[in-house]
Order: sequence, then C-alpha cells, then structure tokens
Amino acid sequence: MQDLAGLSVLITGGGSGLGRGAALHLARKGARVTISGRRREKIDAVQAEIGPNCRAVVGDVTNDADRRRLIDAAVEHGGGIDALINNAGNMVRGPIAELDAGEVLAVFDSNVVGPMMLTGLAVPHLGKRGGAVVFIGSVHTRRSFPGASPYAATKGAVEVLARVLAAELGPKRIRVNCVIPGAVPTEINLRAGLFTEAEHKTRMEALAPMHALGRIGTDLEIAEAIEYLIIAEWTTGASLVVDGGLSLGVSNL
Ligand SMILES: NC(=O)c1ccc[n+]([C@@H]2O[C@H](COP(=O)([O-])OP(=O)(O)OC[C@H]3O[C@@H](n4cnc5c(N)ncnc54)[C@H](OP(=O)(O)O)[C@@H]3O)[C@@H](O)[C@H]2O)c1
Repeated sequence: MQDLAGLSVLITGGGSGLGRGAALHLARKGARVTISGRRREKIDAVQAEIGPNCRAVVGDVTNDADRRRLIDAAVEHGGGIDALINNAGNMVRGPIAELDAGEVLAVFDSNVVGPMMLTGLAVPHLGKRGGAVVFIGSVHTRRSFPGASPYAATKGAVEVLARVLAAELGPKRIRVNCVIPGAVPTEINLRAGLFTEAEHKTRMEALAPMHALGRIGTDLEIAEAIEYLIIAEWTTGASLVVDGGLSLGVSNL
C-alpha cells in the first residue's frame, strides 16, 4: 500500500455528499486535496472546514476550459496529481417513453463524457507518479429501479470505462477502479428536484430493510473505499461494491 499522506488528490463534486466526505477523510489522512463544483459557496465551505490542505476551484466538468483549470489548480496545489476521483454526478429519472433527449445527453455529459475528458487531461500527470483514477458507479447497475434508466445507463458506462482504462493505462502504471456505493443520504435527488427533503428521508428509511446489514450507508464508508483504491498498488480494473448488502437482493420469502 502507498502512504496517503502528501498525495495530491483531485475530487470533482467536492462541495457536498460523497465528494465532501472523501475530501474531509483524505485530507484528515494527510492528502492535499483539490475540489471542484459549480456552486462557489458549497466548495468554499468545505475548503474552510479542511483548511490549507484543500484548494477549491469553481468549475463544471462538462466544460473543457474548466477541466483544464481544474487540472492546473491540482498540479499547483499538490505539486502534481496522484489521484483523480471522478465523483461529480447528477440524477435524471423518468419513464422511458417520456424522456427528453437533451436531458439524457446532459446527464451523460456530466456523469460520463466530462469524467472521460478530465481523465485524459490527468493522464500525463498521473503517469509521472504511478497514480490512480477512481470512478463512482452505483448500485443502480446491480439492482433495477424502474424509471431510473438514464442515471443507471451512465453508471453502467463508468463501470465499463474503469475496466477498459485499467487495461489501457496499466502500462503507464496508472490504476483505474470503480466504487459501487449503495444508498447514502446526499443532495443528489434533491438537486434533481425529484423529492422534497421529507420524501427523501422517508425513501431512505424505506430502503434500510433491503440491505443485508439493515441500514443505509454513510459518506465516510464510501470515502474509506475510495482511500483503499487510491493506495492499493496491485488493484486495477476492480468494481468495489460498498452497499451494506443492498445489491444482494436479499429476500426472506
Ligand atoms: N448518494 C448515493 O446514494 C449514491 C449512490 C451511488 C452513487 N452515487 C454517486 O456519487 C457521486 C456523488 O453524488 P452524491 O450522492 O454525493 O450527490 P451530491 O451531494 O449531489 O454531490 C454531487 C456533486 O457533484 C457536483 N456536480 C454535479 N454536476 C457537476 C458538474 N457538471 N460539474 C462539477 N460538479 C458537478 C455537485 O455540485 P454543483 O451542483 O455545485 O456543481 C455536487 O456537489 C455521484 O456520481 C453519484 O452518482 C451516489
């Protein structure tokens, strides 16, 4: 295992949810983190929580100029890039017959195309240090939630991407893996305007009994999996399921 202390880690979508959790956890362990997001106030709040080990850069992963600024900022802040965490993502749901093509393309842009392009920009830096890329997949590729086809399709794409890029970038000593989180309460559904906060809480509580371990997860539990994939030197092309057993499809019938 590599030592996390002193590594330069770039995390997209670091202003809330799993990205914020990863930034706090990795910085606590001594990493120098650079975080991005479109809302200045969210990433600034995380930067203030962490202190000098964190740099916050406003940017949209779907915008090429923003992606380049983000890479430059991470290189400057961390003295290079050791790990890229492609965490920023959005949710789109809807019955298949009612989907809007523009909305579907937009969610592929933020969840798949943006992370692909950002990974390409990070490769020259990661290659200098034997670095790591971590994609964030979803339990939506393991359990089927009717109406969530746009989101699930993007997550299927990143899971496959991690495997292909692991093969492509292995000769450069770059490892590429994917974390498959289960249900963790974050902003993603609220930002998509799908539920009120009260409805979201009820849905999360209803999911708990579907887990083998009887509860939903925490952002720290996902951050620990991300940490492992950053430092595990002989792990590449892996999909690490961290979901309390939700994907097992437990049934007592
Ligand atoms: N929560 C779960 O149960 C769960 C389960 C499986 C997988 N995931 C995945 O985990 C990742 C993080 O989601 P989360 O649940 O933590 O939700 P979240 O709290 O909404 O975090 C997502 C972050 O991504 C940022 N973002 C969205 N689009 C962006 C863009 N185009 N450019 C830059 N930043 C962007 C958002 O900030 P701005 O709006 O300010 O840009 C937000 O801070 C996502 O990939 C999601 O699919 C979550």
